[in-house]
Amino acid sequence: MQQRQMGKNGPKISAIGLGAWPIGGGMGPVEEAEAITTVRSAIDAGITFLDTAQAYRTSEDTLGKALSDGYRERCFLATKVSGRYSRRDIEEAMDNSLRALGVEHVDLYQIHSWNPQYPIAESMEAMLRLQEAGKTRYIGVSNYNAAQMQKALQTGLFHSNQPRYNLFARDIEAQDLPFSGQNGIGILAHSPLAKGLLTDKYRPGHIFPDADERSGFPQFQGEIFNRHIAIANRLGLLAADKGLSLLQLAIAWILRREEVSCVLVGAKSETQVLQYLGAVGAEFSSGELADIDKILLGEADD
Ligand SMILES: NC(=O)c1ccc[n+]([C@@H]2O[C@H](COP(=O)([O-])OP(=O)(O)OC[C@H]3O[C@@H](n4cnc5c(N)ncnc54)[C@H](OP(=O)(O)O)[C@@H]3O)[C@@H](O)[C@H]2O)c1
Repeated sequence: MQQRQMGKNGPKISAIGLGAWPIGGGMGPVEEAEAITTVRSAIDAGITFLDTAQAYRTSEDTLGKALSDGYRERCFLATKVSGRYSRRDIEEAMDNSLRALGVEHVDLYQIHSWNPQYPIAESMEAMLRLQEAGKTRYIGVSNYNAAQMQKALQTGLFHSNQPRYNLFARDIEAQDLPFSGQNGIGILAHSPLAKGLLTDKYRPGHIFPDADERSGFPQFQGEIFNRHIAIANRLGLLAADKGLSLLQLAIAWILRREEVSCVLVGAKSETQVLQYLGAVGAEFSSGELADIDKILLGEADD
């Protein structure tokens, strides 16, 4: 597995990471035994960066079980404090996460989102104190834009930001990606498969069950869903010309940016995990990138 540096001065991490939201049940139920196999097969395959969060339902507990038998020492473990960011909230959330995960420390602790109700200086000081106390090796943020990262940097240094970034969600390219690059902050890209739209799995009219978060997302309903599927199909043809599957193209396209330290892909099974591996090392000519842009803009011929 390719290793990349997390930001300018951070540790080396695997270029593909396992996102542990699906094994928490947020995209439909996953049996615990299947979840444990998924995590362990990812680590065995070199996908050693694991990402979870306080808010990911049963994910931290399940990860804790998967990381026994020596797997903890072989991975880079990241979690997040979710929603409330007072000093006390952050300290309590950290202790709860360590307990659920069954570990003494995590490798990266992240503030899950920007919340203007909590002064960023207080939140960042709490994060820095947890780092000093050895409960986390590194600290980071998530879903912050450039202005929010700038404010957080006024209190102290952090190594990573975790924004959504995929072929259908490119809004970070204008300001946030360049800001991260200029300030040595590593990008951990979340939702790289657009939550399944970029996998060649779904056909128009598919209905997601209530227990799956996608049942409530507009891009998975009606005409918008069908339009995304049509674009994904065109991208799939371009991928096939390169000897890649659609999801491998989607991951490789994110890895083309040097600001990206890791692409966090969610998976529900060992089979899904193993399909990621072929994405690493794929490169794009400027002509291919222009063709992708045309497809995304709906300008490509059928
Ligand atoms: N910081 C944040 O606010 C935030 C937000 C979202 C995500 N994240 C992080 O980013 C990670 C990745 O995002 P995500 O899990 O939400 O979405 P994603 O990676 O874009 O999509 C994951 C889903 O795609 C489908 N899939 C995966 N591999 C596949 C394969 N080989 N073939 C066919 N389908 C496949 C699976 O669902 P089905 O099989 O059911 O289709 C899987 O649950 C998360 O797990 C989490 O760690 C962070």
